[in-house]
Amino acid sequence: MTQEFFCGIDFGTSNSSIAVTSPTLKPQMVTVEAEHTTIPSAIFYEANSPSPVFGRKAMQKYINGEEGRLMRSLKRVLGTDLMQNGTILNGKSVKFENILAQYIKYMKEKAETSINKTIKKVVMGRPVHFRDNDRKGDKEAEKQLREIAQISGFDEIYFQYEPIAAAYAHEEKITGEKLACVIDIGGGTSDFSIIRLGEKLKYKQNRQDDILADSGIRIGGNDFDKDLSISSFMPELGFRTTYGKKNLYVPSSQYFDMSEWSKINGAYNYQNKKIIKEVLNEAHQPEKYVRLQELYEQEAGHRLLMLVEEAKIKLSQSSQINTTLEFLSGKPKIKTSENLFSQAIKPDLSQIKKAMSECLQQAQIKSEKIEIIILTGGSTEIPFVKNELCQMFPQAQISAENKLISVGLGLAFDAYHYF
Ligand SMILES: Nc1ncnc2c1ncn2[C@@H]1O[C@H](COP(=O)(O)OP(=O)(O)OP(=O)(O)O)[C@@H](O)[C@H]1O
Ligand SMILES: [Mg+2]
Repeated sequence: MTQEFFCGIDFGTSNSSIAVTSPTLKPQMVTVEAEHTTIPSAIFYEANSPSPVFGRKAMQKYINGEEGRLMRSLKRVLGTDLMQNGTILNGKSVKFENILAQYIKYMKEKAETSINKTIKKVVMGRPVHFRDNDRKGDKEAEKQLREIAQISGFDEIYFQYEPIAAAYAHEEKITGEKLACVIDIGGGTSDFSIIRLGEKLKYKQNRQDDILADSGIRIGGNDFDKDLSISSFMPELGFRTTYGKKNLYVPSSQYFDMSEWSKINGAYNYQNKKIIKEVLNEAHQPEKYVRLQELYEQEAGHRLLMLVEEAKIKLSQSSQINTTLEFLSGKPKIKTSENLFSQAIKPDLSQIKKAMSECLQQAQIKSEKIEIIILTGGSTEIPFVKNELCQMFPQAQISAENKLISVGLGLAFDAYHYF
């Protein structure tokens, strides 16, 4: 009998990865784009081309100004009304389901090529909550992701919470038994789990007793991008300036739409352009407000938000960053600082901390009992975020290896035990 292979897929809001395994093959990451084991969750549909491009290549094509449409943060669409509507690509209406399936299929094929075998069984990661306080939407999101995996060619699909998968990946290195708390702050969600890990426990068939709690919230690095965009960038495009005889603030939704990855493409509509044109006629600081019009006319929202994200990532290393918006009139120079950024994300971070506390309550344990903190997800690189969360566990040792692949790898460990 030929050997059966399985895989684990971490379909992330910002980055994805895939790992393969079989009864005799230890889980291993697949180089999914050139030599990389992670790939940005981005798709670029070139104008007049039938086949899209994925990952870094997709981002590069957009940055080079090639004609077409960039899609990012597609995971955020799961469980929302947008799933029903779809979007227009090259003049044709396409369902998000099929767009997402093209992406998953791309990863599946990379994995199959790496082992020269077909793979039909997958453990898919999922956030603890796709949607907050919306059970129906959450169920719907999982159902949609299952259908997407089916369209992509999988016939046995099992879901695992992302933070639990991250714990499994770390369990490989644990000696004795330890009570761990996983903190996974990614692009779209922050997920937590409290789990007993141990060198012997990992061979158990059913781990339900070892999982003391899991919780999550739909706030992550994408929201920090939005916070930084609104607080430091958008004021140079006229945000919070006034217009008209009544000295009203200019409308804000056009700024928020350009600060949220998953909303950008849908915002370049007639209605928004019309509002901006009318407000511009009466704007008190037209030299700034006109830049908002330029952003919409040039469809440069992704370009701006990429610069915002880049500044955010640099702020994890430097206390101050300057960014010049070359593509807008007057080439405004934006100054951001670690301090202002920390202030801007405070409300979102306090929601994240609240979800963390709820996880402890659910487990009915005191924070001092936690022996290991497993940090995973790109947003735990932010010193302020990391410190605020780790302070909740003064006694614990911190483990922060393989931040970007631990979920994918852990899902394959789960597949290895499950199938
Ligand atoms: N050095 C850094 N400093 C700050 N933020 C960072 C850094 N590196 C990555 N990020 C942010 O981390 C996020 C991506 O993290 P990750 O790849 O773990 O998310 P994901 O798995 O795609 O998302 P999710 O798990 O929420 O679906 C992005 O918002 C990115 O901007
Ligand atoms: Mg993730």
